[in-house]
Amino acid sequence: MTNPIAFFIFGGTGDLARRKLYPVLSKLLKEGKLKELKAVYALGRSEEKIRDYITRFGDNLLKVFRFLPLDVSKKENYRKLAREIESLPDTELIFYLALPPQLFEQAILNLGSTLRRFSNPRKIVVEKPFGFDLESAKRLNFQLKRYFTEKEIYRIDHFLGKAPIQNILSVRFSNYIFEGIWNKNFIDNIQISALEEIGLEGRASYYDRVGALRDMVQNHLLQILSFIAMEPPALMDPERVRDEKVKVLSSIRRFSVSEVDRYAVRGRYRGYIEELGRESRTETFVALKLFIDNFRWEGVPFYLRTGKRLKEKITQVVVVFKEVPGNFGRILGCMPASNKFLFEIAPGSRVRFFFEMAPPEGFLACPVERSMEIDLSPNLPEAYETLIEDIVKGDQTLFIREDESELAWEIVQPILERWAQEDSIPEYEPGSYGPKEADKLIESDGRRWILL
Ligand SMILES: NC(=O)c1ccc[n+]([C@@H]2O[C@H](COP(=O)([O-])OP(=O)(O)OC[C@H]3O[C@@H](n4cnc5c(N)ncnc54)[C@H](OP(=O)(O)O)[C@@H]3O)[C@@H](O)[C@H]2O)c1
Repeated sequence: MTNPIAFFIFGGTGDLARRKLYPVLSKLLKEGKLKELKAVYALGRSEEKIRDYITRFGDNLLKVFRFLPLDVSKKENYRKLAREIESLPDTELIFYLALPPQLFEQAILNLGSTLRRFSNPRKIVVEKPFGFDLESAKRLNFQLKRYFTEKEIYRIDHFLGKAPIQNILSVRFSNYIFEGIWNKNFIDNIQISALEEIGLEGRASYYDRVGALRDMVQNHLLQILSFIAMEPPALMDPERVRDEKVKVLSSIRRFSVSEVDRYAVRGRYRGYIEELGRESRTETFVALKLFIDNFRWEGVPFYLRTGKRLKEKITQVVVVFKEVPGNFGRILGCMPASNKFLFEIAPGSRVRFFFEMAPPEGFLACPVERSMEIDLSPNLPEAYETLIEDIVKGDQTLFIREDESELAWEIVQPILERWAQEDSIPEYEPGSYGPKEADKLIESDGRRWILL
């Protein structure tokens, strides 16, 4: 018999709770997938933000929904929370921190001491951003571990809830044909792009404190890179999968603060300061070149880029294979294009393989590029749906382990330190593909950015 479950959503009146968490909980209830769910508590200071909104979900969510007034910083408010917990014997308690990140530590501290006298099974879910730099991430981990075991901690990176990203592992490890070519002998470079058309869109105060490197690279892009580069795990089990990701992150070549400019470029779109209405040192674009110094990947550059107010919204991974030997190109009078493997995460969800074929004129004319495509789009679950189901099941495969979170910060830390030394940030035109410095980063290696 499974325990009944109660969700406590800190920040239960906020944007994430309203746009993602309640719709998913409501859907899962409707589909009969959350039979154990007995209560959903929205915690926050202002009930009026949610009172009318929650009625739209109808009976299924309303029946279990409660608002619990709580200011995270006020210790006395946790007495009310304790009284609710007393009324839930044998219930598994799932605490979801959907709070402004600067409140995470305080919430963990006050919640942790409130929970001391209870023996209910429990889980804690922590939203991103997990820390602001290496030191604060370590502090956050330390606070969490004072009150929760690693098995009870779910650090969210919602990109891992996206089916096309999970599919990277399926394609790589469920097909025999890829393993033999998925390495430095066949692959020339790998490009991971997460480009956005939108700018600040009401998130100015959050984004300006964080910037593109912390918002996208430290978490989402390094997670995608880990899936692309990891070894097959000994078992498809949460610990074994995360062990392999940790090995990738540990093998990423570290650079010192003085070397950063050779590997990292930042940018800011023209008009950002005017939009923000104050001075700022925040980047809205990052491009990076990383190397993984292990047997599989030595010498293969991984180019990462992300930014706001760019020409198009697109998130994808392009695996670029090596060119065929030059003498074949000389016979044809042209070089066949490299094979490419695409994992498209947005706007569509597709896997596509590009290869060269003879044109209608015959096999001695220049080959033309053709592709085979599999569209994953129909009926994919929403990222938060997958993740919430996993939390309830207790499956941590798609959540970030303590060591992963710190290793990812270790990789970006010298970049943060280098950029803190200098005020000037290269500008780029809104609607472009970022600053020219990002093109130079890849072109100086004799390559170019590819979008498919
Ligand atoms: N929104 C998204 O799509 C999204 C996506 C990925 C990750 N996240 C992460 O999710 C978290 C929440 O983001 P959000 O966009 O939902 O933020 P938000 O809309 O600003 O909501 C913040 C929530 O925190 C509560 N809060 C603020 N101060 C409080 C205090 N002193 N005591 C108790 N509650 C307090 C607010 O409730 P009251 O005002 O009622 O107190 C509100 O419910 C952040 O860590 C964010 O990075 C958000």
